[in-house]
Amino acid sequence: MSTQTLAYTDEVAAQTAPLFEKLSKQYKREHWETIAPYIYEINRLKREKNAVILAHNYMTPDVFFGVGDIVGDSLMLARKAAETDADIIVQCGVHFMAETAKMLCPEKKILIPDMKASCSLSESMNAEDLRGLKAKHPGIPVVTYVNTSAEVKAETDVCCTSSNALTIVNALGAQGHDTVIMAPDMYLAQNVAAQTDVKIIYWEGSCIVHERFTPQDIIDARKTYGEDLVVLAHPECPPNVMAEADYAGSTAQMDDYIKNKQPRMAMLMTECSMSDNIAANNPNVEMIGTCQMCPHMKRITLPKILEALRTEQPEVIIDPEISARARVAVERMLEMS
Ligand code: 13P
Ligand code: SF4
Repeated sequence: MSTQTLAYTDEVAAQTAPLFEKLSKQYKREHWETIAPYIYEINRLKREKNAVILAHNYMTPDVFFGVGDIVGDSLMLARKAAETDADIIVQCGVHFMAETAKMLCPEKKILIPDMKASCSLSESMNAEDLRGLKAKHPGIPVVTYVNTSAEVKAETDVCCTSSNALTIVNALGAQGHDTVIMAPDMYLAQNVAAQTDVKIIYWEGSCIVHERFTPQDIIDARKTYGEDLVVLAHPECPPNVMAEADYAGSTAQMDDYIKNKQPRMAMLMTECSMSDNIAANNPNVEMIGTCQMCPHMKRITLPKILEALRTEQPEVIIDPEISARARVAVERMLEMS
């Protein structure tokens, strides 16, 4: 069946009606009638092929709520990839996330709807860069953010995500290491350094989304919205932004905070779709701009997901020797966090 011929039938309308109601602030009816047939067909194909969709918190609401089976932050997606008994995993996120899933499930077919869905952090450092950094600081353990390629992970002692970076660094400290190398996100490293006695040597990579936020964004928003506004920031933001925020956490930790505390107004210093998804789940919380768009995450769309499922391409393949070495660092992280 061609993806151009998908129709908004009575069956599609009936099946997707509850979701449309939930997302009625995000999608107008005319738009929904073009989206819903994709959601219907993707979900049908998933069942037919025993496939599962892992969707990161930065996916747009149509993907996140419409077709995501497992949703969450990068740590949660890695954990769940390791547990699923599906034959096919479609990674709706960026390439390093799909690689992590492949390392943890080498026997499964891992698809990513757009191979170009990269990440400025993983692009900021290659394996040779990390080997050079290690040569300058021999004997110092290396912690790399999961936002790295398999080749970089293969040079790593233990990985971390934004939700467990401090735990991992402190665990290394408790093992007697007074210094660690943390790469490639300098802001995550600086934000962790502010909360630990372990000395951190960092690489100067940054996220093109989170580096754009400024403390002034928060100061201005507080002037406009007053004391009811709660500001949550992702630890990829610069330290001066974190200092102005009320709470810092990974995408899943921010999601949990809003779900549990139900503030009257909240502003997220992170990617735009995250606010849309939280707004749909928390109708009593008013979500305030600002946000920044990740061009890599936004490459993942319903038509591309459908095409990936139909053709079972593009498939993520990793050199088995690199994958086995990289997997050790990811598994160590899962054990330590
Ligand atoms: P999380 O692990 O918090 O989901 O972050 C991943 C990411 O790429 C944030 O920009
Ligand atoms: Fe990478 Fe930043 Fe996009 Fe996350 S938001 S995938 S860190 S570029």
